Amino acid sequence: MRGMVWICVLLVCFSEAWSLDPGTNERRPANGTTVFVRSAFTFDAGSQVNLTCSKTMSNRTIYVIWRVKLKNKECYISIENNQTVDKCLDGKSLQHSNLLIPNFSTEDVGVYKCEFVYSGGKEDHIIDLSIIVPPQTHAWLESKNNKMVAVCKAERGNPAANISWSHTGNVLSYEALPQADGFVTVESRLELPEDTDVGNLSCAVSHPSWVQARIVMPQAENANFPWLYIVIAVVIVTAIFVGSASFALKAWRRSRQADVPPSKLPPTEYVEEVEPYASYVQRVNSIYNSSADLFT
Ligand SMILES: *[C@@H]1O[C@H](CO)[C@@H](O)[C@H](O)[C@H]1NC(C)=O
Ligand SMILES: *[C@@H]1O[C@H](CO)[C@@H](O)[C@H](O)[C@H]1NC(C)=O
Ligand SMILES: *[C@@H]1O[C@H](CO)[C@@H](O)[C@H](O)[C@H]1NC(C)=O
Ligand SMILES: *[C@@H]1O[C@H](CO)[C@@H](O)[C@H](O)[C@H]1NC(C)=O
Ligand SMILES: *[C@@H]1O[C@H](CO)[C@@H](O)[C@H](O)[C@H]1NC(C)=O
Ligand SMILES: *[C@@H]1O[C@H](CO)[C@@H](O)[C@H](O)[C@H]1NC(C)=O
Ligand SMILES: *[C@@H]1O[C@H](CO)[C@@H](O)[C@H](O)[C@H]1NC(C)=O
Repeated sequence: MRGMVWICVLLVCFSEAWSLDPGTNERRPANGTTVFVRSAFTFDAGSQVNLTCSKTMSNRTIYVIWRVKLKNKECYISIENNQTVDKCLDGKSLQHSNLLIPNFSTEDVGVYKCEFVYSGGKEDHIIDLSIIVPPQTHAWLESKNNKMVAVCKAERGNPAANISWSHTGNVLSYEALPQADGFVTVESRLELPEDTDVGNLSCAVSHPSWVQARIVMPQAENANFPWLYIVIAVVIVTAIFVGSASFALKAWRRSRQADVPPSKLPPTEYVEEVEPYASYVQRVNSIYNSSADLFT
């Protein structure tokens, strides 16, 4: 479980009407101890998640049910009398009372409730799962009204990244923009005095994905960017033009070749029965005619 980054556990006495009810929990559990635990975990995208419901001996299990509340769906996986019922059908599986999530992704972010009933009592666990996704970092320089503005951007991270600058200056803006899918893009704009030596200007992007902050040097060649794009665009347009022109030319040639011979070729089959000799002559003529056409 390389992905586990932080854990905060708090014991909470819990009574919540959980909307999803497959019916199993109507049965009275055996008398005994009852445990309520609520916890929160954060995992890296792509990690294998192993959620523990109970450490109680599996041979005393009566039933286990994991109810899952995700952003766009609710489902459950349960096991009773060695029979597993999987209503999630998204790769999650049970190993005794543990829920395994292969390849943790944003789709798996949500609330997981486990109800574990065994011969000596009952346990309820509620686990809030969230995901850590590192942002993409970019930095560049812009010039505006004879002022220089350095921009540093950490795109689509979760949670939001934190940006700081190596140079002091006038921070024009610092925005953390939440995206619809739960990611956050952070952008910091730093205005610098005109005479600043930007040779070693950098921004530091820190994020829980990384032990150390990422240092990003702004690219000074912002003015060259449009030229680069224009050159690329011209190359692409030329390639498309040349490609389609040669294709059209080929198609035109092919249609010319195709036009000539079939229309001149006479139907020969029925003639054959009656006049083999005539048909032979005619075929020779037709070949002669069509090749003559081609070369005129
Ligand atoms: C469980 O509790 C019920 C009443 O709450 C009682 O009648 C029953 O005897 C108890 N069973 C055990 C095994 O303790
Ligand atoms: C999940 O964790 C339990 C211990 O809590 C362990 O026994 C089990 O082997 C783990 N499963 C996987 C697939 O890592
Ligand atoms: C469950 O298994 C353990 C050993 O794995 C054993 O000591 C215990 O007696 C078993 N309990 C029941 C109820 O079978
Ligand atoms: C469940 O299956 C295991 C082996 O897969 C077996 O040892 C156990 O006795 C079974 N329990 C029940 C209640 O069928
Ligand atoms: C995990 O999921 C991501 C995206 O859903 C996919 O690109 C990647 O290949 C998956 N990895 C494994 C090991 O299945
Ligand atoms: C960035 O990190 C510093 C401490 O390292 C903290 O004081 C500050 O609030 C953080 N800023 C944001 C936007 O999270
Ligand atoms: C920039 O780097 C030079 C050496 O390359 C160093 O002398 C100078 O102090 C640095 N400036 C800042 C602001 O760190």
